[in-house]
Amino acid sequence: MKDAADAILRAEQAAYLEALEPPRDPLLAKMEAHAAERRMPISDPEVASFLAVTARASQPRFVVELGTNIGYGAIVLARAAGAAAKVLTIELSHELCEIARGYVAEAGLTAQVEVRQGSAIAELEKVTQPIDLVYIDCVKEDYPRYLELALPRLAKGGVLVADNVLWRGLVAHENVPSSERVRVEAIRTFNLALVSHPDMRAVVLPLGDGVAYAVKTG
Ligand SMILES: C[S@@+](CC[C@H](N)C(=O)[O-])C[C@H]1O[C@@H](n2cnc3c(N)ncnc32)[C@H](O)[C@@H]1O
Repeated sequence: MKDAADAILRAEQAAYLEALEPPRDPLLAKMEAHAAERRMPISDPEVASFLAVTARASQPRFVVELGTNIGYGAIVLARAAGAAAKVLTIELSHELCEIARGYVAEAGLTAQVEVRQGSAIAELEKVTQPIDLVYIDCVKEDYPRYLELALPRLAKGGVLVADNVLWRGLVAHENVPSSERVRVEAIRTFNLALVSHPDMRAVVLPLGDGVAYAVKTG
C-alpha cells in the first residue's frame, strides 16, 4: 500500500515513482479503485510492474501466489507469464476467492488461473509440481515457513518474490512497537534465511514496502 511505500522512500520519491508507472488498463484500474475504496491490501502498482517484468523475463510455466486478495497480482502474473503458464493462487477467505474468481473471469483467464481457497501453508504443502515462480504476499508471521516449503518446490533457476519484507521500514528499526514485534522478527528471519541460503542468490529491493527477489541457483 502507498502508506507503506512512503514509510521507506521519501514522499517526493514515492510520488515520482508512482508518476512513472504506465497507465493501467481498465480492469486493473477498476481493481485498484475497488481495493482503495475498501482498504484492501493489494500489491502496489510498482510491485505489480516488477512482477510483470519478472514473469515476462523468466517465462514461468507454473506460478504460485500465496495470498490472492481480489486477484490483482494473479492477473498481472498470468498475463505476463503468457497463455502457456498456469497460476495457482491461494487465499483463505471464501469471500475474497469469489471476488478474485470474478475478476479472473473478467480478465478471460479462468482456464489459466486457479483461485484455491485454503491456508497458504496447507495448500503449499500439497504442491508437487516444480514451481518456476513463487510470489509470497501473505501472513507475515508465516514467511519463514513459506520459505521452508517453497524452496524445495522451486525449480532450479526458479524465481522467488516476496512482498513487504521491509514492513513499513520497521524491519530496520531498533525500536519496534510491541504490537509489531512478532511480525518484524518473522520477516527478519525470512530475509536472513533467504539471503544466506546456499542454493539461492537474493537481493532485497526498497520497492513498495520492500521486495525480496531471488533465484534458485543450486
Ligand atoms: C497482501 S494480500 C494479497 C495481495 C495479492 N497478492 C495481490 O497481489 O494483490 C494477503 C492476502 O492473504 C490472505 N490470507 C490471510 N491469511 C491467509 C492464510 N493463512 N492463507 C492464505 N491466505 C491468507 C488475506 O485474506 C489477504 O487477502
